[in-house]
Amino acid sequence: MNREGKVYVFDHPLIQHKVTLMRDIHTSTKEFRELAREVVTLMTFEATRDLPLKDVEIETPMTKCTMKMLAGEDIAVVPILRAGLGFVDGMLDLIPNAKVGHIGLYRDPETHEPVEYYCKLPADIEKREVFVVDPMLATGGSAVAAIDFIKARHAQNINFLCLIAAPEGIEALQKAHPDVNIYIAAKDDHLNEHAYIVPGLGDAGDRLYGTK
Ligand code: PRP
Ligand code: URA
Repeated sequence: MNREGKVYVFDHPLIQHKVTLMRDIHTSTKEFRELAREVVTLMTFEATRDLPLKDVEIETPMTKCTMKMLAGEDIAVVPILRAGLGFVDGMLDLIPNAKVGHIGLYRDPETHEPVEYYCKLPADIEKREVFVVDPMLATGGSAVAAIDFIKARHAQNINFLCLIAAPEGIEALQKAHPDVNIYIAAKDDHLNEHAYIVPGLGDAGDRLYGTK
């Protein structure tokens, strides 16, 4: 195992404010999508805090000098389809050179187990810092399965970024993948009998794409 994963719950007022707007049943699909992009951009700012820097020689109008730049363009963003797609643009706004992989999973409505239907990752995923993104961490089944696929391709440094997490999902993900950093905008109370997060925001995919 490469590193010990940590759990980060963002308490920044702007993030909390925007997540509350997303939870509101009266928020439209258009507003929900815009808010998702804004929140993930704010989260990305913090989640990339430890990216390595390198020294570069540059010349300003005043003098030559040594300054810092990112050490590599070696990031991959991997949304879990379909709701995770709503998080990609907000990350690319800050990391435009990241490669994007896709993992298609949905929860079986009866068993709540994840069912895979698609997986396409950057060929050099094993060299990249990977950010798996999905708005909801409920039972944790989808996140655990997605990270299983990514690890099967030998990725080493994996992070999971979500909007709302249930305690059950955090525990399941930490147990299955203790090396993964988990970034959360809000930690909620519990899951209901259908494995939906309470208070949550409902079905993230339906709210992003207006399919309800
Ligand atoms: C939602 C959500 C996660 C998953 C979380 O996806 O976007 O992927 O449920 O639940 P879990 O932690 O219990 O696995 P869903 O299965 O509704 O598919 P969708 O994105 O296609 O709507
Ligand atoms: N998936 C969702 O979209 N919402 C939940 O609350 C749980 C799983």
